[in-house]
Formats: sequence, C-alpha cells, structure tokens
Amino acid sequence: MEQTKKRNGFASGFGFILAAAGSAIGLGNLWSFPYKTSANGGAAFVITYILSVLVIGIVVMVAEIYIGKRAQANPITAYKKTHKNLGWLGLFAILIPFFIICYYSVLGGYTVKFALNSFSGNAGNVYSFVGNVGDVILFTAIFVVLAVIVVMAGVKNGIEKASKVLMPALFFILIAIAIYALCLGEGVSEGLNFYLNPNFAELGFEGILAAMSQAFFSLSLGMGIMVSYGSYAGKEIKVGKSVSMIALFDTLVALIAGLAIFPAVYHYQAVNPGSNLATGGVLLMFETMPLVFESMGALGQIVSLFFFAMVVIAALTSVISLMEVVTQFIIQKYKVNRKKAILIVAIITFAISIPIGISLGKVLNGDNSMLICGENWLDFLDKVTNVVLMPLGALGACIAIGWFTFKPNKKSDIFNPMSLHRQLEKDGLKLGWFGKIFAVMVKYVTPLLILVVEVVGVIDFIAPVVNGVRTFSLNGLGIVLTAYGLCAVAITIYFVLYKKHNTGCNADELELDKSTASEKEEVIENVIEEQAVEVATERTEEIKE
Ligand code: PHE
Repeated sequence: MEQTKKRNGFASGFGFILAAAGSAIGLGNLWSFPYKTSANGGAAFVITYILSVLVIGIVVMVAEIYIGKRAQANPITAYKKTHKNLGWLGLFAILIPFFIICYYSVLGGYTVKFALNSFSGNAGNVYSFVGNVGDVILFTAIFVVLAVIVVMAGVKNGIEKASKVLMPALFFILIAIAIYALCLGEGVSEGLNFYLNPNFAELGFEGILAAMSQAFFSLSLGMGIMVSYGSYAGKEIKVGKSVSMIALFDTLVALIAGLAIFPAVYHYQAVNPGSNLATGGVLLMFETMPLVFESMGALGQIVSLFFFAMVVIAALTSVISLMEVVTQFIIQKYKVNRKKAILIVAIITFAISIPIGISLGKVLNGDNSMLICGENWLDFLDKVTNVVLMPLGALGACIAIGWFTFKPNKKSDIFNPMSLHRQLEKDGLKLGWFGKIFAVMVKYVTPLLILVVEVVGVIDFIAPVVNGVRTFSLNGLGIVLTAYGLCAVAITIYFVLYKKHNTGCNADELELDKSTASEKEEVIENVIEEQAVEVATERTEEIKE
C-alpha cells in the first residue's frame, strides 16, 4: 500500500493488465486480423498466428515489460539501464509511436464519425465522408481530444480507470454482437467457412510472415508501449502472469471479431444475391459493415452504434498508450508537467494527421495526386513502422535482455542461456517453469525468427514478386530507406543529445507533481491569508464605525 501511494503508476495488477490489453486490443484485432485471416488460409493462418504469439509475442512482451519495470523510467532511460550504448533503442521506441499516433488518429476519427452517424445512415457515405476534409479534421480532432483527456489525468487516474470501464464494455459488446451475428441464419455457415476454412496452400510463406507481423502489431510490441507501461508496474505485479493474460485477451478478441463480422457479411450476401461486398481493407469496416447494418432495419441502427462504439473504444485505448509513451518521455526529460506534455504531443501529431487524412480520402476517391512512394500517406507510414521498424524494435528488446543487461561471471557463460536464466531470477524476473524456456527463447530463438521477418519483409519491399518474378521496386526501396533513415536519426540524436545526459525517470514526474502541488498549496495559503486580512480590516472598520 505504502508503495502504491508513493509510486505514480498502476494501482493494481488487474488495472495494469487491462491497460496493457487496452493498448493491444485495437483496430488490429477488430479489423485487420479478421480480413488477414480470411485472405491467408483461414484456420491455417489462425494456427500460425497463435504460434507466433507464443514463440515471439510472449517472449518480446516479457522482455519489454521487464525492461521498463526494472528501470521505473521512460524507454530511453530504461534501455540505458540495460546498456549505456543501447539507449537509442528507447528513442526508437518513442519515435515509432509518435508516427503511429498520426495515422491512427485519422482512423480513430472515422470510427467516431460512424458511431455518431449510426442513426442517420452511414451506408454508402464512406466516399463523401473521407473526401470531406473539414469533416475528417473535425472527427480526428474529437478522437484526439478524447484521448488527451484520459492521458492528461495520469496513469492511475486516467489510463487505468478508463481501461477498467472501457475494456469490459468492449468485451461484452463484442460477445453480444458475435452471438447476434451467429444467429442470423442464412449465410452464417458460408461466412464461417470464408473466415476459418483451413487452407495451408493459401497460407504459404507470405501468410506466415503476415501472421508474425500481425502478432507484433496486435500486441503493441517493438516499441516503447510495453516498456513504458511496465515502468508504471510496481513490485507486486507479476510479469509472466500479466503477459499471459494480455496475450490471451488480445487473441480472443481478434478471433471473436471475425465471428462477429463475416457471418453478418455473408448473411447480407445471401439475402441480397448478386451483391459483392468488400471483405478487406478500409472498405470492410466503413463500407461493408454500414451496408450490413442498414439491411437489418431499426435494430441494425442499434447494432451499428454498439459496433462502432466498440471500435472507438478499441482505437482509443490503443492511441492512449501511444500518446503515453511520448508524453512520459517529455515529462521526465524536459521536466514539464503532464498537461503541457500531452498538449505538445497532441498538437504536433494532430497537425501531421491532417495531410494523412487528406491523402487517404483522395486515394479512396480514386485521386492519386498525394502519394509517397506510391502509397497514400497512411499506408506509407503504416508500412514504414509495421513492416520495417517494429520487428527491429522487438529484436532490440530481445538482444538487450538476452545479451547486454547482465555480465556473466565466467567468459564461457556468455553463450549459456542457463546462466542468463539464473541472472534474470536474481534480478527479480521470476517466471516459474517458463523461466528456462524464456532464457533460451530470448537469447536465441526469438531474435532469429524476428530477423527472418525483418529480412524477408525488406526484400519483399525492394524486390516484390510481380507475376511470379522478383522485380525491383523504387517505391519499396523508398519505404525501406525512410525506415532505416529514421533509425539513423534516432541513433545520432541519442549519442549526441542523450547518452551523457540524464534522461529522467518516473520519480521525476512524482517530484514534479509534488512541486506543482506545493506551489498550488502556497497559492491557496496566500489567498486565504489575503482574505483573512481583508475580513480583519473590514471588521476593524465596522468596529470603528
Ligand atoms: N495493438 C494495436 C492494435 O491492434 C495497435 C497498436 C500498435 C497500438 C502499436 C499501440 C502500439 O490495433
């Protein structure tokens, strides 16, 4: 109790799990997982995805949360504490979320718009909405403001409290909609067949890679999110148990989302023969789903409201985690209070999100005048961050814990995972039966697998397979160079600006809070004093009279 009072972090273990699950459960679960599954061999993809979560996701998440927890500091300081030359991984872990916020907010804005429009008809409006710059900016702003309110209230009073209400709400809505969709009758079995029918030939190597990178994105790994949330976790929070719960919730929500979406879509197609709805991409969520809801009559409006409210919640709790990482660093390094820090983050990312929204709207309306490397701005950033940078960040977390954090007693122990296991236990990471497996995985297996994802991902950009032949792609090269350019920038900034200087820790925020609190007290005291003086002079005057 003492400790939770003094620390500016999560008040309870369950609060921590829900907040981290809130970050993990997002558009990736409700939207990309279902359509990636249907496009990559159904159950074959699901099996590969679950394996990726087990052998890559869980290991990286344990590593990241532990890096944060043992340091009780923002990602730069936390990585510095693994090794002083690795602090740049922390900067990397702050830069990636910064860019993701910019495009995630645009999509978040779409979801707000569609939730609010549930009763006045969304169907068929997607093109005019996304093309309407004013509307897109307005709804992005509303979404950003919602996130800012939560982050501004702090980790315990904002993020944790919001997650405790929003995450159970999301879960119940999702289950209710899935049950409803599964009971629609006609078309349901075709929908399930489309979603889950196992087809290993369709999965292929590409599908395996897609499953692996989906696991990174969906679990919010490869950047500072889990490091930062981990830093707010107290001693009483068990890393292993928390990670298994977070991964379980995340996977369940992704799986159930497909059960809510595809039966409904196929039901619509069965009832409206000849219709050919989009089953992937932006259009699945914003064109197909509104049409499906509309066809359900009055009840459909309510289902639509709940469906999009659920998507707003998912997107909101994810963007909150992204904002928190950047905000935490600004507070701790530059000693500004939380309010100012989050406003700085929100204003800059919002400004960048405007051209992103405009570019996406244009492309969806068939106007290709605003592209970077052949992509709309949103897809461009998404590819730079997801495909190239996130695996690198995850690789960094494994290497930091597996190879740099602890010095083995004997030279011969350098390559011995059991020595790492003993050191991790001594350092306070108690994982029970999973401890030894974790040491082997984090040192060897997981980094190797991630390396494959990274290398193949990069090759596929630079030389994609077109009509069965590998062909050089200048646009792909541009994406890869942008990503590695960002890495170079992060590394340079770290060594020039941050390595030798104090980059702050959670205790600094506590101090900052205290000093602002005592300033406030002083002000209040002064006011009271002044009032007392006033009253006293009035009294004396009265007496004189
Ligand atoms: N995990 C979130 C999702 O599935 C997205 C996200 C990625 C959020 C990275 C934070 C960090 O949509």
